[in-house]
Formats: sequence, structure tokens, C-alpha cells
Amino acid sequence: MSAAGLGDGELEALEALVGEALAAGRDGELPVLGYGEISLVLGWPAEAPRFACKRMPAFDSRAAFESYRRAIDDYVERLEAVGIAVAPTEMRGVDHDDLSVVGYVIQPILPAATLAPAVLHRTDPAEGHPLVAAIADAAAAAVSPRLGLDAQLANWAWDDGRLTYIDVSTPLEWDDRGASRLDVEPLAKAYPAILRPPLRRFIAPRILDGYRKLRSVYEDLAGNLIKERLTPWLPAFLAATNRHLARPLTEREVHGYYRSDARLWALLLRLRRLDRAWRLRTGRPYPFLLPGPIER
Ligand SMILES: Nc1ncnc2c1ncn2[C@@H]1O[C@H](COP(=O)(O)OP(=O)(O)O)[C@@H](O)[C@H]1O
Ligand SMILES: [Mg+2]
Repeated sequence: MSAAGLGDGELEALEALVGEALAAGRDGELPVLGYGEISLVLGWPAEAPRFACKRMPAFDSRAAFESYRRAIDDYVERLEAVGIAVAPTEMRGVDHDDLSVVGYVIQPILPAATLAPAVLHRTDPAEGHPLVAAIADAAAAAVSPRLGLDAQLANWAWDDGRLTYIDVSTPLEWDDRGASRLDVEPLAKAYPAILRPPLRRFIAPRILDGYRKLRSVYEDLAGNLIKERLTPWLPAFLAATNRHLARPLTEREVHGYYRSDARLWALLLRLRRLDRAWRLRTGRPYPFLLPGPIER
């Protein structure tokens, strides 16, 4: 099954529903499937969801949308070339009257029980699980100065001995001169205008760089186990990741990393909430979906 099974009419209906919810400040009522740090993932059709629809911010033009779409297609191709199976992914756009285009990254919904956090939650860490080494190996095969990967557990599914990657809506690719291919413009628009220049110049490049260094990809993967309440799995992950590192990663290092990473993302989310509150007070809609409270 591919996203081709989702008709244009259906996607427009979803976007209309999102538009209404945003205008009324009632995004709590949308059919949310899951959320990561960037996107809110909606399940569609709402009654019996078959598609995971990740709503991206609006692009100023068709051209900007098309170029982002090409970046995602390339990224998927590059991951598959290094042996990572990616869930069937298609980026589609919905045109708005003001000529902006809202992008949706669409995938078939993978069964909830196959998502890696769910698999580990029902497995005894003492027994171990093959997905642990599979993720560490996949990251080692993929990550390079030109290709990044967000190897966090929540970005993988494990089905019948096969690992599948789902998080490709933020393509992590760099060109020969070290420039990121990611258009951060639409993402920056979720923040207060005064913060966008430093966000574009300093914060975004720093965050993105972490995904093309194997050690920080592993720190992030291991640190995220704490957020997922899977800390008992930490030793198994460190054993698997340390086979690929010259200098072993320690639990202490992971805990330290997690505290600063959690603070950074919590701060970024607070800034978006602040901007939303400000725009709503000044009578303008806030056109992004934000997750509710996140426990860190
Ligand atoms: N195809 C899918 N099938 C089932 N659940 C999904 C799918 N895509 C995303 N999700 C859920 O939504 C969460 C966030 O999606 P993801 O693509 O990782 O977005 P983000 O870039 O915000 O992290 C995932 O961790 C998962 O729980
Ligand atoms: Mg994710």
C-alpha cells in the first residue's frame, strides 16, 4: 500500500479539518496518531485510520514545496542505498488561496505493536532483542558527513525480523561544501520573528550537525531511552553502539547529554507556545500544530 491510496479529495478534507481546528484553537480534537519534536502526525481517515499524515508547515510557493519534496525523495533514496528500509513515503501538497502550499508527508500506518518502543516495552531487557543491534548497525552504515539519521527508537518499526525507518520528514543531507539541503525556513516560522535569524544561523545548524556524527546520534538514541521510560535497556544499547565507537559511550555521558537535550527541546517548544499565545492575542492565527505537555 502506498500513499497513492489517499485521494486528493481526502487530503483536502483533512487539511480543511486542521484549518478549522487551528482557527478555533481546538487542535486537541484532531485524530492524532503520534508526535515527535517537529511534526504532529495525524491518522486518516479519522474513523479508521490507514494513513499517517505528517503536516509540515506551509511553503511560500509551489517551487519551495517541490524542492522540499525532492529533498525528501533523495533522502529516502540515500537511506535505502545504505541498506535502510524506509516506510513507503510520499509528500503531497494542498494549495491555499494565498498561493502557499501546505505539505503532508504521507505513509501507510504501521501497526502500533511493531513500533520499536512498544516492542521493547513488552520485552524483558535481560533477554535482549535483536532490534537493538540492528538499529546501532543501521546508524553506523548510514551516518556520514553528508548523510544524517535520527536513530531514536520512536523512528523505527520492527516486524518479523525486519527494521523499518519512518522519520524522513526532515531530510538530513549535506552537499560537497558542507551546506545542509534542509530548508529550515518553514520550520523557523513556528517561532517568534525576533528569534528566527539566530535560529537559522546558529541553533538549527548545531542541531542538524548532531545527526551526521555517529557518536551524537548514539548519544541521542541512548538518551531518548530515558524519555521513553526504557532506561533498563541502556546497557544493551551501549554494548551495541560501542562496537562502532573508538571511545566507548558511558551511561554517565548519556544521562548528561539527555538533561541538556531535554532542556533544549523543552525551551524550543515553550518558545513556540509563547509565539502561539502572542499571535492569538493579537488576532492572528497560529498555523502550526503543537504537541500537548511532554514528560521529559
Ligand atoms: N507510518 C507510521 N505508522 C505508525 N505510526 C507512525 C507513523 N509515522 C509516524 N508515526 C508515529 O508518530 C511519531 C512521530 O513521527 P515522526 O515521523 O518520527 O515525526 P517527527 O519528525 O516529529 O519525529 C512516531 O514516533 C510514531 O509514533
Ligand atoms: Mg521522529
